[in-house]
Amino acid sequence: MAEALSHIHRFEEGAEPDAAPLLLLHGTGGDENDLVPLGRTVAPHAPLLSPRGKVLENGMPRFFRRLAEGVFDEDDVRRRANELADFIGAARERYGIAPPIALGYSNGANIAAAVMLLRPEALAGAILLRATAPLSQTAPVNLTGKRVLIVSGASDPIISPEGAARLAALLQRDGTNVEHRTLPLGHELSQADIALARTWLQP
Ligand code: MLT
Repeated sequence: MAEALSHIHRFEEGAEPDAAPLLLLHGTGGDENDLVPLGRTVAPHAPLLSPRGKVLENGMPRFFRRLAEGVFDEDDVRRRANELADFIGAARERYGIAPPIALGYSNGANIAAAVMLLRPEALAGAILLRATAPLSQTAPVNLTGKRVLIVSGASDPIISPEGAARLAALLQRDGTNVEHRTLPLGHELSQADIALARTWLQP
């Protein structure tokens, strides 16, 4: 029997195993099943890799610890981002897939951003839905040629416009091609998010 990987996860091969794989990262209280339908909608034939966050907050899975809403334990963000990057590497070997594009929502988008900024080799790019800067500062890395789509909600009560702008600036500083869109929405996702993600993924 193959050795267990570090994260509970789902892997869906997809009808086109050579299509760019998606790494699905759920929000607080979600699990590895949550974003599979969204992943299938935006990338109907791609392999999907969907881990469950390993931190529990009142029983709700997350990808890193927070001290209060919007106040992150940055040591834990760094530790968990490295752990997730190692998981991606091990899962790529297990399933024979290329570096994935992350599709993350809320806490899942924030850990995807941290992985891009700390372990740039782990991801090919990212779609970050309702994301903020997960770290106040990071050392420069080379993200030249990588693409990131950030989709914010104009009236999001959890993610401030400044947080999303700080994230965009950090990624751009390191050479990422960032497209930042803001929808007339709150923290919840909508068909408009799906349409933007689908369009952005088109080659
Ligand atoms: C977080 O990472 O804590 C998000 O910004 C908010 C959430 O996931 O609830």
